[in-house]
Amino acid sequence: MKQNAAPHWQPRCHLTAERNWMNDPNGPVLRDGVYHLFFQSNPEEPFWGPPHWGHASSTDLVHWTRRPDALAPDGTGPDADGCWSGCVADVDGRAAIYYTGVVGYDEERVESVCRAWGSTDLLKWEKDDDNPLVAGPPPSLGSGYHRDPFLWHDGDKWQMLLAGGTPTGEKHGQILRYESDDAAAWTYRGVFFEGPREIDGLDLGEHWECPQLAFFGDRAVLILSCQDPLAERPLLRSVAFTGTITDGGFEGDFQGVLDFGDACYAPALTTGADGRVLLWGWAQERLPRDVQATASKAGALALPRELTYEDGTVATAPVSELAALRAGDARDLASELTFDHPALEIAGTLTEGREWGVASGDSSLTIRSGPVLSVRAVDEFGGARDFALPSRSGELRILIDGSLVELHTAEGSPLTTRVYWSEPELRVTASGARAWSLAEGVVED
Ligand code: FRU
Repeated sequence: MKQNAAPHWQPRCHLTAERNWMNDPNGPVLRDGVYHLFFQSNPEEPFWGPPHWGHASSTDLVHWTRRPDALAPDGTGPDADGCWSGCVADVDGRAAIYYTGVVGYDEERVESVCRAWGSTDLLKWEKDDDNPLVAGPPPSLGSGYHRDPFLWHDGDKWQMLLAGGTPTGEKHGQILRYESDDAAAWTYRGVFFEGPREIDGLDLGEHWECPQLAFFGDRAVLILSCQDPLAERPLLRSVAFTGTITDGGFEGDFQGVLDFGDACYAPALTTGADGRVLLWGWAQERLPRDVQATASKAGALALPRELTYEDGTVATAPVSELAALRAGDARDLASELTFDHPALEIAGTLTEGREWGVASGDSSLTIRSGPVLSVRAVDEFGGARDFALPSRSGELRILIDGSLVELHTAEGSPLTTRVYWSEPELRVTASGARAWSLAEGVVED
C-alpha cells in the first residue's frame, strides 16, 4: 500500500522552506537588528534539485518571516545549475553573498565562487557582473571539489576558505585558502587545513563541505562537514577542530562530532549582537523516497544553538530565547501524560539507571541514563536506531516538533534525529521532568 507523508510529521517551530525541499543553512547574519537566515532550497519538488537561496528573517530568533528568494540559478550564468552554499559578508558596508556557482553535473561539474550584492534591507539581491570571481579549482589540485566559500577580514586582508578533497591516494578532506585586498580579486594561497580519512575510528569522509570558523580570542574553532559521495543519506557528519591560525594555515586538535544524532549536517555560524556564536544545522529527513515524494515540505533547520568554547571544550546549547516557544504552563511528569500533537518540550534530570520514554503506536524514543546516555529511536522506516552520548548530570532538554527530535544535555552535547510517529498523539513517561506544548505560528506562512 502506498503511504503518504503524515501532516503531523511537519514541524511547527522549525524553519522549513515555504514548500518542498530545504538543505543547508547559508550565511546567517545580524544586520540592523534583524537576523537573516538563508538556506538551500528547491521549490520544485521535495528532493534536492538546482538550489536557490531561500530567505527568512527574525528579530528574536524565535519568530520567522518568510522573504523572497535571494538567489536562483541563471540559465546563462556560472550558476546555471545551482546557487550552492556560501556565506554573507559585509564588504565596505554593503552586504554581499558569496556562493558556489555550479555548472554541469557529476564529473563535469564546475564549482566557482560567485557574488551577489544586497539592498540595504537584504530583500533584493543583484548578481555581480564580474561573476565568477574564482572560475574553478586551482588546476594544480586536480580535485573538482571547490565550494562553500566562508569569508572573514583578518584586519589586513580578506580571507576565504573553500571546501575540497584530495583527488587520489587516501581520499580525505581539504580546506583551501584564498586571499584578497578588495574581496573581488582572489589569490590562491594553498591548503589551509587537511585531515586523514579517519580519526579515533571516526570516518571523516572523502571530502569536506561548508567550512566555518569562529574566533575565541586568539584561538579558533573550525567546523567541517564530512562527505562521502557513496554514503547513504543522511550524509556523514559535522565535526569541530580547535586551534590557531599560524602562517596562513590552521593547526588544530580534533574535538569530535558536533551532534550525536543522524540528522544534523552542514551547520552555519554567525555572531549575535551580544557576541554569542550562533549555529544552525540542517535537519535532514529519513523517509523512503516514495513517502518523501508526497511530503509538502522536506528538510528543516535545527533550532538556533549557541556555540561555546571554554576550558578547551566546544559545546552547544539551545539559545535562551527558545524559552518563548513554551506555550502555557509546565505539566508535571510525575505520571504518564498524553499530548495530542508532537510539539512539546521535556526538561528535567534523568537519574542514573532510569528511563524516559515517548511513544505513539509502533514508534518511540527511549532515553536511558548510565555511564553514557543511551537513546533509541524507533519508527517504521528506520527500525530501531541506537545512539550514545556523554552526559554526567543527566540534565536534559528534549524538543519534539513533528518528526524532528532535538535532545540537549547540560554538558552541551546535542543529538538530532527524526522519529516518524505512528499517530499524532504521544504518551510521555519522564519522571522527574516537566513538559510544555510548543507554540504555534512562529513561522509566518
Ligand atoms: C552540503 C552541500 C554543500 C553544497 C550544497 C548543495 O549539504 O553538499 O557542500 O554547497 O549542499 O546544495
